Amino acid sequence: MSMEVTNNYIAIKSHIDGNPKESDFEIKSDPLVLSVEPNSNEIIVKNLYVSIDPYQLNRMKSFSSSQKASSYAVALAPGQVIDAYGVGKVVASGNPEFEKGDLVVGLITWGEYSVLKGEYMLRKLDPLGFPLSYHVGMLGFSGLTAYAGFFEICKPKKGENVFVSAACGSVGNLVGQFAKLFGCHVVGCAGSKKKVAFLKEKLGFHDAFNYKEETDLKATLKRYFPDGIDIYFDNVGAEMLEAAVANMKIFGRVAVCGVISEYTDAGKRAAPDMMDVMYKRITIRGFLVGDHFNIHSDFISTTVDHLQTGNIQVIEDISTGLESIPLAFIGLFRGDNIGKKMVKIADE
Ligand SMILES: NC(=O)c1ccc[n+]([C@@H]2O[C@H](COP(=O)([O-])OP(=O)(O)OC[C@H]3O[C@@H](n4cnc5c(N)ncnc54)[C@H](OP(=O)(O)O)[C@@H]3O)[C@@H](O)[C@H]2O)c1
Repeated sequence: MSMEVTNNYIAIKSHIDGNPKESDFEIKSDPLVLSVEPNSNEIIVKNLYVSIDPYQLNRMKSFSSSQKASSYAVALAPGQVIDAYGVGKVVASGNPEFEKGDLVVGLITWGEYSVLKGEYMLRKLDPLGFPLSYHVGMLGFSGLTAYAGFFEICKPKKGENVFVSAACGSVGNLVGQFAKLFGCHVVGCAGSKKKVAFLKEKLGFHDAFNYKEETDLKATLKRYFPDGIDIYFDNVGAEMLEAAVANMKIFGRVAVCGVISEYTDAGKRAAPDMMDVMYKRITIRGFLVGDHFNIHSDFISTTVDHLQTGNIQVIEDISTGLESIPLAFIGLFRGDNIGKKMVKIADE
């Protein structure tokens, strides 16, 4: 006899346009039989850790250009199960590549169990001796985003001046750490005194500032970069991008990783000075991590080396329990998190 459980999962009640709030979410429950037909390709995964990421908000809107741009960012309907990156354990498998008990990483759900059918993105996980949570953040999508964005898009040279926004966040802190290890001069910005102290004292950024205390961002960046910025790793967009472009050196590079300040405010836009862009021959390039799986093995081996030698620090911000997902998610847009935000759903 197969066991039947109640599968609790998080859904949106209606589309969210603007800042998300707890009342936009609900916990739904479905009965779930923990078995699958042999050779059905279906897999049931018990979710252990799930990632909490800003891009999900763009999927929750009634409309966003992002929804047609990437298969990971398709629109979410109210009431629907929400797929998200994470780590879990197989409880039933109709796919010969996976067995009950296998640890897996990939696109699971903001729920207690994930029922995966048709095409899914999942692979077996060898934890390599590291905690499972590392495979959600540091060795997962955030880590690859930082690595690919910095090395492939920014094309750094030793000694260059690097500016990172949302520097205490999941991607930002890693970009700063990679840049410093590579021999760049790194300045970060973040939204509180505590985060600024963390960047300088714990992560060894050469300098950092609280953007919320600054009234003239162009002048602020001029103070931190009297000789100009070679690389701006943009996680926030809008005014910060404008200020960074105004302070770029010739042949400067901007990697547009994210524009979080524009996710919650549809009217907000960056209007960088295009004369600057032209005369300083600045490259502004957007990228998506999904286009960079070709360097995944290089990313893993380099990062594992850094972890083993203690050169890189893993900064995680973990909430516990499925019911904490809405608040964990909302917190991203209030700057509550330091490091990779994720939710631990269950013990192994
Ligand atoms: N291109 C890709 O493939 C890809 C992949 C992953 C992530 N991303 C993007 O990268 C960025 C960082 O993602 P993450 O997962 O590492 O998140 P995160 O940085 O860990 O969390 C978001 C942070 O953004 C800051 N923030 C929130 N609202 C803001 C606003 N209005 N203005 C300025 N800063 C704001 C907050 O920090 P403060 O306290 O500093 O404000 C918050 O902690 C996001 O834009 C995300 O969408 C892109």
